[in-house]
Amino acid sequence: MRLLVLGGSSFVGGAVVDAALAGGWGVTTFNRGSRPEDRPGVEVVVGDRTRRSDVERLAGDRWDVVVDTWAAAPRVVRTSAGLLRDVAGRYVYVSSRAVYASPYPGGLDETAATVEASAGAESTGYAEDKRGGELAVEEAFGDRALLVRAGVILGPGENLGRMRCWLAHVDRSSTVLAPGDPDQPWRFVDVRDLASWTLAAAAAGEHGPFNLVNPLGQATTGSFLDACRGVVLSNARLRWVGPAAIDRAGIDRYDALPGWLPPVPEYDGFLTTDVGRALAAGLRCRPVHETVADTMAWLRDTGGLGHRPDRDGPDPLGLDPALERAALAG
Ligand SMILES: NC(=O)c1ccc[n+]([C@@H]2O[C@H](COP(=O)([O-])OP(=O)(O)OC[C@H]3O[C@@H](n4cnc5c(N)ncnc54)[C@H](OP(=O)(O)O)[C@@H]3O)[C@@H](O)[C@H]2O)c1
Repeated sequence: MRLLVLGGSSFVGGAVVDAALAGGWGVTTFNRGSRPEDRPGVEVVVGDRTRRSDVERLAGDRWDVVVDTWAAAPRVVRTSAGLLRDVAGRYVYVSSRAVYASPYPGGLDETAATVEASAGAESTGYAEDKRGGELAVEEAFGDRALLVRAGVILGPGENLGRMRCWLAHVDRSSTVLAPGDPDQPWRFVDVRDLASWTLAAAAAGEHGPFNLVNPLGQATTGSFLDACRGVVLSNARLRWVGPAAIDRAGIDRYDALPGWLPPVPEYDGFLTTDVGRALAAGLRCRPVHETVADTMAWLRDTGGLGHRPDRDGPDPLGLDPALERAALAG
């Protein structure tokens, strides 16, 4: 199998490359060469995909599968999908659950309504960009398009600093804030499970949209935080604090509690997302403690670097202690 990864030098694309190499695939990546490629056997084509002439260089070859990690203007996906239509078997777009229109229905499945978007658009916002990217891929590849609608992606290499934030949080004092309810679902997908499922699904000819997070019941906020405490050897007591006290304290959950969703009707669809389609197509998700432990090991090995320069991300030191005290005080 011959794989082309558009991107491929960073978090999600890098995991796809690793999974493909492990499976004996031939791998080519296409990116601007910002990070040196040190994996033997990977062919790197350096170019800027916002320049059509750079992408045209890829169309002289043949690929069984293309995986695209783009998350900005859909017109860029339209260019690459259009140029690769006749030389690639399948085109996978790493999409997002963000494509669904709010309010998200409970048990959110792939038939739910999506945001309005256009395949030829400039960047107008994350949800519209991702949906526009999907449309661009479907326009060129039809039933050879595979759309991977991932939820929060965690695991080694994670470059938004979400896990780093939680590991710091549980390790800082003897009593730490735990958001919401310990039994609330913690829906995420390990990047390695996403990568291996994506390649297998593409090779098997799967097409269309697939939600990709862990199955309901596999992980909870409680089991996630216990795993975090376990890997940093923290004895901290978790004090569960409801969403109202978190709001009153002025805590920004995106920055300080990354991945956690307040249990309000607006997010019910994300908490109860249906992944039956992906499970039937072979999705297997490793236990949450494995994701946490392996990410901790990766952070140790790399000094916790690799944060994306274009994103602020959560505070690496975890939740601001003053805000945490305010929330704990109610
Ligand atoms: N993180 C999550 O929780 C989450 C959830 C759902 C979906 N997703 C999706 O997952 C994807 C993230 O993939 P990732 O982690 O591999 O991406 P990333 O960290 O944003 O890396 C971007 C990749 O694209 C390359 N690139 C950027 N600009 C380029 C250009 N103009 N021309 C050619 N290559 C370019 C980069 O290499 P160079 O800089 O060297 O060019 C790099 O390899 C996104 O599509 C995102 O929407 C993420």
